[in-house]
Amino acid sequence: MLAQFGICWVELVQGDITHQKTDAIVNAANEQLVGGGGVDGAIHRAAGPSLMLETKKQYPDGCPTGSAVVTAAGNLNARYVFHAVGPVWRGGIRKEANLLESAYQRCLELAVVNDCQSIAFPAISTGVYGYPSDLAADVSLSTVRDFVVTKQRPELVRFVLFDAGTLGAFSRVLESMTV
Ligand code: APR
Repeated sequence: MLAQFGICWVELVQGDITHQKTDAIVNAANEQLVGGGGVDGAIHRAAGPSLMLETKKQYPDGCPTGSAVVTAAGNLNARYVFHAVGPVWRGGIRKEANLLESAYQRCLELAVVNDCQSIAFPAISTGVYGYPSDLAADVSLSTVRDFVVTKQRPELVRFVLFDAGTLGAFSRVLESMTV
């Protein structure tokens, strides 16, 4: 599914984010930046060991929840990886929505600062961190829409959703934004 907001496009696809060819690929990382399963594991495997070496060297203190840091992309078909740390879902009463919004916002700012015309996001926090997909879709897509409408960059924001359920949740929200 593809939607236009001003001069920018928001696209939803089902697939593996490590196969994307975009200027930036976003990783769903943890605060320690030590790697993990899910998207994090897949990105580090596909990118190769340089990614972990660079995060360790450049960010020895990790990255706080709600923020993101940038590295090169190793063997991935991208210029950068943005390592974003989404919140762990604790029932919605621990500012999870604000933290998820700010993780997306920071990635979009990094895209602009690093002159990226395209960026691929996974559904941050919706795996191990347990954020319900429909609620995450709401926060993620509103943050992206508001950013591209205001800044008119990046040109393409692609959400790469691993399973049909998550794609369905994001599609319903994006559709409701375009009617
Ligand atoms: N491509 C795209 N999406 C993927 C991929 C992939 N290769 N693998 C998993 N996903 C999906 C999951 O199905 C889920 O919808 O990405 C979403 C986010 O899931 P997680 O990777 O578990 O990320 P998150 O919930 O943010 O948890 C982060 O998990 O791997 C650890 O180190 C990571 O501790 C951190 C935590």
